[in-house]
Amino acid sequence: MTLERTLSIIKPNIVAKNLIGKIINKFEITGFKIIGIKMIRLNKQQVENFYKLHINRYFFKDLVNFMISGPIIVAILESENAIKLHRELIGDTNPLKALKGTLRAEYADSYTENGFHGSDSEKSAMFEINYFFRKDEIFSGVN
Ligand code: CMP
Repeated sequence: MTLERTLSIIKPNIVAKNLIGKIINKFEITGFKIIGIKMIRLNKQQVENFYKLHINRYFFKDLVNFMISGPIIVAILESENAIKLHRELIGDTNPLKALKGTLRAEYADSYTENGFHGSDSEKSAMFEINYFFRKDEIFSGVN
């Protein structure tokens, strides 16, 4: 069994709607082990660095303003095929295309305010996990 890790973000609109518990429960019943988790509020520079691949896109400014608008939850989820499994659970980036039953189909407000983020590859998972977590904040294989 090969365990994989992915970085999950519960974005400000979902936190504001008091849905943290519901979403975390969904992660656990789906089979993910939560091996790191915290609530943080990002500043402009932190968001710009995190989403630097999108810096020239037309939606970048809106994305940054949204992501600094309130606290978020960042979590490291661990399971077999965690990256793919988590992306299937949250649904398409565009909530209008997200399949029924996915988190974005149910809880997103718009494309920019799509509620959730998940790493899209092993390389980005590594970057994103290291972006938010120190080694001593990750608890894998301890219980
Ligand atoms: P996320 O998975 O966090 O990765 C980049 C984010 O940019 C994405 O979710 C959306 O919130 C936002 N985004 C990507 N494409 C668009 C778009 N075409 N219009 C508006 N927002 C977008």
